[in-house]
Amino acid sequence: MSTHRKAGAVTLTNLKKMKRAGEKFVCLAAYDACFAGVAARAGVEVLLVGDSLGMVLQGHDSTLPVTMNDMIYHMNCVKRGNEGALLMGDMPFMSYASESQTLQNAAALMRAGAQVVKLEGGAWIANTTRLLAERGIPVCAHMGLTPQSVNRIGGFHVQGRDTSQARSIIEEAQLLEESGASLLLLECVPVALAKTITELLEIPVIGIGAGPETDGQIMVLHDVLGISPITPKFVKNFLTESEDGIPGAVKAYVTAVKNGRFPAREHCFH
Ligand code: KIV
Repeated sequence: MSTHRKAGAVTLTNLKKMKRAGEKFVCLAAYDACFAGVAARAGVEVLLVGDSLGMVLQGHDSTLPVTMNDMIYHMNCVKRGNEGALLMGDMPFMSYASESQTLQNAAALMRAGAQVVKLEGGAWIANTTRLLAERGIPVCAHMGLTPQSVNRIGGFHVQGRDTSQARSIIEEAQLLEESGASLLLLECVPVALAKTITELLEIPVIGIGAGPETDGQIMVLHDVLGISPITPKFVKNFLTESEDGIPGAVKAYVTAVKNGRFPAREHCFH
């Protein structure tokens, strides 16, 4: 492991240095204290309290029912178990629809322990990103497949497959960087598009279903353990190869990302 754990805590500066050094970093969506500890000790650099909790913990068929109270509850849990990973929290559906709502909800998530807030969207979240960044709240912009828009998109489909959609994703990613985003997360986009964006942007780019070329990778804990009700093409069950149960599975995920073995070709969209 590199020196970024020296002070016991991962920062955005560490992630930027890792990007520049070509060193992959590992992110995991987790929702409670015990798993947060397991993940941090396994070397996960970024813990996301994701609104995916609506699907994997609460059993909904989308992330839309998740509330700010849910996010704050789980952020508090993860914060207590965390051992030095950077904590990122999702702003749930409709929690950043107006300026005052955005500021109030982002502040609540930061008070609960978040160090970065994640918002889904493209150009339309540029002003919101600037609003938060100017007030000291780091933003991760989530583009590509944005699950909070599943009803508009018409399903959980790969995004950016045609040239004009790919071009707008590139332009909007650049706009979000200019607007002050500290991180970009790309979900379910073709490998070549993710590679182009990762090379164009100075901020670290995290991928899920976006191929091996992004600076970091993220997975949902329940997918790493092979217990999610649905298993998309881009996930891998690491529990099957673990010799040390759940901690071993998380460690195997970390190692596979670090040494470039995950995601493999079969987990990617081309
Ligand atoms: O909510 C979540 O866990 C996420 C990841 C799937 C990236 O947004």
